[in-house]
Amino acid sequence: MDLSTLRSQFPTLAQSNDGYPLCYLDTAATSQKPQQVIDAMNHYYHHDNANVHRAAHQLSARATSQYEAVRDKLRQFINASQREEIIFTHGTTESINTVANGLTAQIKQGSLILIDSAAHHANIVPWQELAKRTGAIIKPIPLTQDCRLDIDAFEALLQQKPAIVALCHVSNALGTLNPVKELVSKAKQAGAITLVDGAQAIAHMSVDVQSIDCDFYVFSGHKMYGPTGVGVLYGRFDLLDSLSPLMTGGEMIKTVSFESTEFNQLPNRLEAGTPPIAEVIGLGAAIDFIQALPTAQIHAKERELLNYLQDALENLGDVVLYGAHKDNVGAVAFNLADEHHQDVGILLDQQGIAVRCGHHCAMPLMQSLSLKGCCRASIGVYTSKADIDRFIAAMASVKELLL
Ligand SMILES: Cc1ncc(COP(=O)(O)O)c(C=O)c1O
Repeated sequence: MDLSTLRSQFPTLAQSNDGYPLCYLDTAATSQKPQQVIDAMNHYYHHDNANVHRAAHQLSARATSQYEAVRDKLRQFINASQREEIIFTHGTTESINTVANGLTAQIKQGSLILIDSAAHHANIVPWQELAKRTGAIIKPIPLTQDCRLDIDAFEALLQQKPAIVALCHVSNALGTLNPVKELVSKAKQAGAITLVDGAQAIAHMSVDVQSIDCDFYVFSGHKMYGPTGVGVLYGRFDLLDSLSPLMTGGEMIKTVSFESTEFNQLPNRLEAGTPPIAEVIGLGAAIDFIQALPTAQIHAKERELLNYLQDALENLGDVVLYGAHKDNVGAVAFNLADEHHQDVGILLDQQGIAVRCGHHCAMPLMQSLSLKGCCRASIGVYTSKADIDRFIAAMASVKELLL
């Protein structure tokens, strides 16, 4: 499939703002959605709308089988060993909260929790709350000068036998890629429970949770061409089964009396209440969309495009790049000299270019870079070289205006 055919599947891309065709470079915040995802959700609401798991009627049976089929798709998509290891949540944030809350009884006063210094707030704050509840101690895993995770410092921290190691697969702010398989292996040798935040990886690379060998892997549907409001928590069965549920109520029980409740088995035990049914079905369509593409070719093309973007920004002059490496994934972080990132973003927007500006939900990372914030341009399957060229031309005009 050529790029223009691929792009034509994304209705939002075919728009102009103030006479400028949209150049969408904010996929890391949320990806655009292909028509087949929108159609799948519409189809459910038009034809099959019913609650899952509950009723004897045909609509509910159809809704349930579509919902559960997505669990099977996801099992295969990330190579989990069994379907019960896939829990539907509302997003990466809820997935991490489910783990951090669920481990409360297993964490003791003084237990050590190591967190990637490049982590998104969603992979920091739930651990801080866990530490507050238990008396555990949080330590950040430092980065090197060039914004990679510092492996020597990590190994030194592992000597202290952490209980939990929380990593990102790809940094949302910088696009830097962690060698998660190697990091998880070291963490596990030290006896830690490992969680990998794959929110920024899942759309850009093949993820095999058994090969990474992490205990938990989490991501959001909306960053992988699927809808908002649905996410995934993968967990190794025995550990997942040991989590106390974050939410209790309907669906997650086997029997209830006023004296006591017996919880259901996985996966229902961790999916209390009516789940985001249409969104799960939309996520299934997003997986179909991704799997119909020539994956290796697409990933190679995205890397080439990102490198082209990094080089072009650098060649503009007066642009500072942060943690820009050739193996980065999906995003590039930058500032234009000392100009405020927000000013740059607004001026780009006036030419139809959508980038992200701010702290990118990674305030500790920004502090370590002595930044208040920065701009981030991020790409997806639909990004073209022409998009990058337009962005660079717009940056040149912003530079001329501001410097
Ligand atoms: C690396 C990373 N982790 C977690 C999140 C939170 O995802 P959500 O808001 O979908 O829960 C994001 C979203 O930007 C992210 O990029």
